[in-house]
Amino acid sequence: REAERADTLAPANRAERAGTDVMVERPYTLIAELTYRCPLRCPYCSNPVALDERAESAGELSTEEWRRVFADAVGLGVMQLHLTGGEPLARRDLEDLVRAAQALGLYTNLITSGIPLTRERLAALREAGIDNVQLSFQDESAARGDLIGGYAAHARKLTVAGWVKAEGLPLTVNVVLHRRNIDHVAGLVALAERLGADRLELANTQYLGWALANRGALMPTREQLDAAFATAAAARERLRGAMEIVYVTPDYFADRPRACMEGWARRYVHVTPAGKVLPCHAAQTLPGLAFEGVRERPLPEIWRGSAGLDAFRGEGWMKEPCRSCDRRGVDFGGCRCQAYHLAGDAAAADPACALSPDHGLIEAARLGGRRGGDAAMESDRSSATECAEVSPPYRYRTMPARRSA
Ligand code: SF4
Ligand code: FES
Repeated sequence: REAERADTLAPANRAERAGTDVMVERPYTLIAELTYRCPLRCPYCSNPVALDERAESAGELSTEEWRRVFADAVGLGVMQLHLTGGEPLARRDLEDLVRAAQALGLYTNLITSGIPLTRERLAALREAGIDNVQLSFQDESAARGDLIGGYAAHARKLTVAGWVKAEGLPLTVNVVLHRRNIDHVAGLVALAERLGADRLELANTQYLGWALANRGALMPTREQLDAAFATAAAARERLRGAMEIVYVTPDYFADRPRACMEGWARRYVHVTPAGKVLPCHAAQTLPGLAFEGVRERPLPEIWRGSAGLDAFRGEGWMKEPCRSCDRRGVDFGGCRCQAYHLAGDAAAADPACALSPDHGLIEAARLGGRRGGDAAMESDRSSATECAEVSPPYRYRTMPARRSA
């Protein structure tokens, strides 16, 4: 469906000039954070640690408001939709939202913990037109997985994965890797094989949101990463043609940053539960940036020109060393949110870059992983349940007060 839609898009409409002097490109993907509610409490959750209470109290977008967002996004050129959260299954109208997306021709991916789900509801979601189910696992075993997620979910996830296959839907297994589970890549590959997954995503933790709050407990060692990479690469070769394996490397252990979101407000448009339009999940944690909501102004108008989205479009905002760097059009200076949360300046080069004057902050955090990793290895030698005692302990994600959906 993506390919069909790509054929119908006019190439001449790929980018347009906004009222300001920045180029506004067509977004390709809409990330719809339907709710922040979630039964799990993962210590690496990408949701903001301090949720915007005013926006939350305004409540989640209604079914009709999300329909309008989807239609407006398609008008802008969006072809794929990620339904995420929190846990999107917490929305009672999820089937209606999937049906609306299907009618618009969007490729729709459900990003879920699988909790709470019934076989009947999954069948209804398939009927409504879901294209892919991306199911998260926290580890290879229930003992460890349930401890990491702060909720007894692993056994149920196995059941849900079976239902997904039985419904004939493509299954992606997603695992966020960190110190406690990165030594289990072989077991995670075996798990995905047993489940009949079409794709396995092994994504090293990105240290923002709750993951930054828990960085000391999550950071792996270089040795762990090297071993995990080698295991994943061997499995990718062995399973070529049977199961796709994607391994997302951690920028804390690279010399150059990732092109976060493929650049600020370029290819991804992110809408929060209450309708705020962002370039990424963490942008609202940056001070001094105004982001508008779809209740106040239509999505296309916001996308084509608003203070928060325009702030880091183009290259005019860049400082040295990015301003004169050959890679500025490749990685866009890295991650703005990481630059702010580590270096205190959202316009600085991402400290993950070895050319950044703040790169020492990343090196210090890696050393923290070495020290914590040694402590973790000690507890691994005793019993799985002792990983709660890893030093420092997890600060589990907490929930905002429940709102109506
Ligand atoms: Fe990227 Fe800036 Fe580093 Fe160059 S200096 S590689 S543009 S982050
Ligand atoms: Fe916000 Fe990278 S997460 S720019």
